[in-house]
Amino acid sequence: MQNLKGKHIILGISGGIAAYKSVVLLRLLVKAGADVQVVITPNGKQFITPVTLSSLSGKPVISEFFTANTGEWHSHVDLGLWADAMVIAPATASTIAKMANGVADNMLVTTYLSARSQVFVAPAMDLDMMSHPSTERNLATLRNDGVIVIEPETGELASHLVGRGRMEEPEKIAELLNAFFAPKNQALCGKHVMITAGPTVERIDPVRYISNFSSGKMGFALAEEAASRGADVTLICGPCACTTSNPMIKRIDVESAREMLEAADKAFDSCDVAIMAAAVADYAPAEFHDRKIKREHEDVDSIRLVKNPDIAASLGKKKRDDQILVGFALETDNGAANAEEKLTRKNLDMIVLNSLADAGAGFGTDTNKISVYYADGRPSNNYTLKSKTAVAADIFDCIENL
Ligand code: C5P
Repeated sequence: MQNLKGKHIILGISGGIAAYKSVVLLRLLVKAGADVQVVITPNGKQFITPVTLSSLSGKPVISEFFTANTGEWHSHVDLGLWADAMVIAPATASTIAKMANGVADNMLVTTYLSARSQVFVAPAMDLDMMSHPSTERNLATLRNDGVIVIEPETGELASHLVGRGRMEEPEKIAELLNAFFAPKNQALCGKHVMITAGPTVERIDPVRYISNFSSGKMGFALAEEAASRGADVTLICGPCACTTSNPMIKRIDVESAREMLEAADKAFDSCDVAIMAAAVADYAPAEFHDRKIKREHEDVDSIRLVKNPDIAASLGKKKRDDQILVGFALETDNGAANAEEKLTRKNLDMIVLNSLADAGAGFGTDTNKISVYYADGRPSNNYTLKSKTAVAADIFDCIENL
């Protein structure tokens, strides 16, 4: 959290039950050395007392335009200029609506309108409010206005709704702010990076499919890292619940391996670096039943499967000398040997090995433990268990050194 030291952060708190989590967030930010000014809505004070907040931040909490007994005016303009970042957590449906429409009837929204810095919001409300068209519309407006909306990733395959509305954990929010203040390495400025991510889904009939447990988190972390280093990113992803926040990332959603190949093939010619982080299903049903297969037999004899195209290998065949192709190997055993074999067979420049045998590595987790192997014969790099964000930074450090 070293990037937060000395940073001026406005912590906006609106009236939701998740306000208790803001106390933890405030503590984390202060502990990391940030200078935090809390601005709370009148409703927010029903959930958490200003005394708790001011003791932690070491500053009086601002809630009204004037301090009642002294008549001192709180300048939202000065506050807006002072801040290096503003984070509103929790952001209720009402506060989000006011922000989206410039309804400056409290100190929090007024400060938001004066803020020159990056603004983050962490929505917190029940699922129905969160998925109401008006909230969706207001969040879209905020995104359009450059606000970064922080939502927890659900990690649930094919269920984009589970967990929505729950406020992101304070630790995650603090991590995100820390990453936002990271010194920017713009080494990939002007470069085009393509990343495949997530699982592929191969339809059997209108209601059934073959897929795998890939969450997409590693590929999305790579996309964010590439964008933060200045690259134009094309992120081709199978169905997953991950979201992106950087406008430098162009996301292309696909479903099957064939669709992923088609999109990757199109993007590849213009790209300088391609990273194959998707868990492509090895096989797809030979035929698609356009009607639901009925449960009329005791046992189903077979669903004939055909081999999917190998996207990495097919790009490897047409790779130019000025392009870098990176693959992943997820292995349960003989990791190094399998990774080296894939490196050669698919004509990759670099392969990232993660072993399912390592706790905390592989599918679904927020962490990963990798080794990197190179085609040019240099010795491999082995890393410890880290967050996928930190792993993505290690991978791009390796790529930049190629
Ligand atoms: O052969 P295997 O699936 O183990 O290879 C893993 C690497 O190849 C990963 O980088 C993965 O994204 C890529 N791959 C692919 N298309 C496939 C299978 C794997 O691009 N059909």
